[in-house]
Amino acid sequence: MRSKFHAGIVVSLAFLLFGCSPALYLPTSADAGHAGTSVDSLLIGREMYVKSCGSCHTLRQPERYSRSIWLQAMPKMQVKAKISVSDAKLITSFVLARCKPE
Ligand code: HEC
Repeated sequence: MRSKFHAGIVVSLAFLLFGCSPALYLPTSADAGHAGTSVDSLLIGREMYVKSCGSCHTLRQPERYSRSIWLQAMPKMQVKAKISVSDAKLITSFVLARCKPE
């Protein structure tokens, strides 16, 4: 009983620390290779994503949606976030580099 209680506390603490807003991934050269772009441009995409996309809803993890869902959502969200097509492209590369497999 007692150890179960402790495990519960550890899990709740972990959830408090990491559960609510799991960290958005930091691009590596493997991601850049996968996305056919540079680490720098993925980093810019990440910055724009954080800046432009978290005001109405929490930032969705790139891993949460497949490529086709992201590609469907981006044009709508570009309008909602009032950003340029080129900024939306940078954000798209960032999320697609780690998207969920179809
Ligand atoms: C002005 C408010 C607003 C901003 C800014 C915004 N969103 Fe959204 N987003 C919404 C709303 C409302 C929905 C749910 C309804 C819908 O799909 O239109 C949504 C849904 C989504 C979804 C889920 C789509 C689905 O099919 O389930 C994704 C992914 C998303 N947003 C990504 C983004 C990204 C990326 C950005 C930045 C470019 C962004 N959002 C900026 C309001 C916003």
